[in-house]
Amino acid sequence: MLVRIPQLLTAAEVAHCRRVLEAAAWIDGRATAGEQASKAKLNLQVPENAPQARELGDIVLRALGRNPAFTSAVLPLRVYPPMFNRYDTGMTFRAHVDNAIRHVPGGGRLRTDVSSTLFLTPPEDYDGGELVIEDTYGTQSVKLNAGDLVLYPATSLHSVTPVTRGSRWASFFWTQSMVKDDGQRRLLHELDTGIRRARADLPDDHAGVLSLTAAYHNLLRQWVEM
Ligand code: NI
Repeated sequence: MLVRIPQLLTAAEVAHCRRVLEAAAWIDGRATAGEQASKAKLNLQVPENAPQARELGDIVLRALGRNPAFTSAVLPLRVYPPMFNRYDTGMTFRAHVDNAIRHVPGGGRLRTDVSSTLFLTPPEDYDGGELVIEDTYGTQSVKLNAGDLVLYPATSLHSVTPVTRGSRWASFFWTQSMVKDDGQRRLLHELDTGIRRARADLPDDHAGVLSLTAAYHNLLRQWVEM
């Protein structure tokens, strides 16, 4: 399931991120890629332990925490500290699958169930740089407004097409979900979305709302791992 979340960050937050990133030290993006991915990868990243990465990562995490669509679609157990990358003209990331397990800086491991990209450059400021995702429903090409997020199953083959003008800046991170199966997560997200729509028109004690809400929580109880 591929989900777009518009305006995860406000315009002011995007502007702040861009100002802080201007002053960051950028290193070769292959520092954090797996063996196959590192051969396919040509981009720049802010080092994971850089103070800019930590400050801006916390802004992204706070934005995720206040976003009900992210919670509903991902059912997050643990989010990897957000990282920041850029593709200058000529840079690209050919098709790859992200590593299944990541060591979290500061301790522990995380299973990458959901991959996320948060766009930080307005689409009119660069050409190319589309995120191409091979979803169960076919290939999708994604290029969003600055501040918008896309999330997709980490099992998907994906790439970033070469940037041919300008520079594309983004934040990216992985989430371990409480529900590891993408099909189950999709079903829960569809059910939750339906309940929200029903609750917009019906009182919370309506029998239909009550039984659908019960079904949602009872499915979640069966599928969740913590
Ligand atoms: Ni990737």
